[in-house]
Formats: sequence, C-alpha cells, structure tokens
Amino acid sequence: VPVAIMISGRGSNMAALVEASRAPDFPAEIVLVLSNRPDAKGLETASAAGIATEVIDYRGKGSRKAFEEGASSAIERSGAEIICLAGFMRLLSPGFVERWHDRLINIHPSLLPAFPGLNTHERALEAGVKITGCTVHFVRAEMDNGPIIVQAAVPVSHKDTAETLAKRVLAVEHRVYPLALRLVATGRARLVGDRVFIDEDVT
Ligand code: GRF
Repeated sequence: VPVAIMISGRGSNMAALVEASRAPDFPAEIVLVLSNRPDAKGLETASAAGIATEVIDYRGKGSRKAFEEGASSAIERSGAEIICLAGFMRLLSPGFVERWHDRLINIHPSLLPAFPGLNTHERALEAGVKITGCTVHFVRAEMDNGPIIVQAAVPVSHKDTAETLAKRVLAVEHRVYPLALRLVATGRARLVGDRVFIDEDVT
C-alpha cells in the first residue's frame, strides 16, 4: 500500500516508518514525505533515504485552504492511499479529515485520551502519573482524538524531566508506529463504529 507521511520537523517517526518499510514483508511503501515547513530536518533524512519530498509552505491567516488543497493534490499525485502524520504540527480542517477519513493516522506521545495537545510530557509530570506512553489513532476533526489503533506504556520515574521522558517515549513511538501502520495497511485494524478491532494478534 502506498503511504504518504506528513511532517513539520525532526522526522524521527517518519524515519522509523521508512526503515520498517524496507523489510520485504512490510505491507506499506513510503512514496512521499510532505512538510509544511521548508526547514524541517526530516526532509533531508527522507531525501537521503531516496524518498520523494514535497514542501507545501503556506503560512498565516487564511492559508489553511491553500495548504490543504496543495497537500491533498500532492498526496493524490503520489498515489498514496494512507497518510501518516508524524510530528505534523499544523491543525487540519474537518474538510481535510473527511476527505481522508479512515485513511489518516497520527501518533501522539501520551496515552490518549489523557494529555492531548502540546507539552504532553510536562503535563504528565505535573499530573504525577506513573505510567505514560504513546498512541497511534485514526484522525478525527477534534485534535488528538479518534479511534485508537495501538498504544504502548512507558513507566514514569520521579527522576524524569520532560526531556528524559520524551526520549524514552520516542523510542517506543518508533516501534509502535510501524506496527500500527502494518495493521492498517493489511486491513487488520478494522473500524467498528468508533472503535478499532484488531483481526488477528500481531507482534
Ligand atoms: C513525536 O513525539 C510525536 O509523537 C509528536 O511530535 C514528536 C515528533 O517527533 N506528535 P519526530 O518529528 O517524529 O521526530
């Protein structure tokens, strides 16, 4: 299955997906990495890996429509059937989400529905939770919301700072995102109403 990845920055989750997709039995191929920022570090990583990249750079007020039209047509041209958001920091309109309904997935560094939005790790530490983690989910119009595909837990230590916690969660993200994409690309993550059923155990 051809897949596009949308990034805004470092792109380490994108790199993990690209790496996983190299395995001969992986059911998805990364055909495009799209960034809304020309300075996203991940663009260099993607090019170095031989993946086509595209920058759709419209900023400021009233730019959302132009951005989303540009993004949707680039993705359609690439032939991608699934979009993975990976550190993509721009809000997407309900129109865009509708257009890619059930084909658009995101990773978030918390155990949703806890701590949606920004500064996740700071807020997890403030709340004093002893377990956090990451979530891959289908995207719905509301931010960091939607049917959960896979989650993984990460224990929190009293010694953690937002930085140390982010680092440990990120390492887990890099394992979980390829697993979730595998489930979606093979059709084993099946939407039943607002919940995802996994057809078969895969590890
Ligand atoms: C990740 O923690 C991701 O979950 C969050 O932003 C970070 C992006 O990192 N949405 P990277 O660009 O994938 O390295």
